[in-house]
Amino acid sequence: MLNWNDLEKTCAECKNCPLYAGRTNPVFGVGDKNARVMFVGEGPGEREDALGEPFVGRAGQLLDSMLASIGLERAEVYIANIVKCRPPQNRDPLAEEQNACIGYLENQIRLVSPDIIVCLGRIAAMKMIREDFKISREHGTWFERNGIRTIALYHPAALLRDPRKLPETFEDLRKIEIALEELAQ
Ligand code: URA
Repeated sequence: MLNWNDLEKTCAECKNCPLYAGRTNPVFGVGDKNARVMFVGEGPGEREDALGEPFVGRAGQLLDSMLASIGLERAEVYIANIVKCRPPQNRDPLAEEQNACIGYLENQIRLVSPDIIVCLGRIAAMKMIREDFKISREHGTWFERNGIRTIALYHPAALLRDPRKLPETFEDLRKIEIALEELAQ
């Protein structure tokens, strides 16, 4: 099922895992469907669940600043999450919830066909890059995933909790900016 309308409609009606029961809105994804860069978070929080849009809370404001630091706006990237429905009390999504939902993201990646995927945080990196991914050691390192350059950054919520991680995150963002400059040549 590879068109945006069908995918979004199926997601809106999805009951593939128990998270559907607690959602106000599924948070499908937003942005440029032809984006060169795709950002992948973990799952919706309270505000995202209320509005149906990813990264609109405090972490989202920081994400916007992170994007701005490399000359990008939210509207020119695509932003989605590993799970589309909010886990209760913002707990990490369980493996079975991630597995039930990942097909939506895989289809979104096929449709956007980005040059670069940026995993936001440990949970996204463990799902997208390697099960035993260590965010503190491997953030800012390039990997290849199905032919797409893939990198992980600290999650914006982790950066809000520990701003000492900000300088290295801005260095990681610069790597993305350089890769985009190379791709544009
Ligand atoms: N954290 C995430 O991982 N995703 C969101 O959409 C919001 C906060």
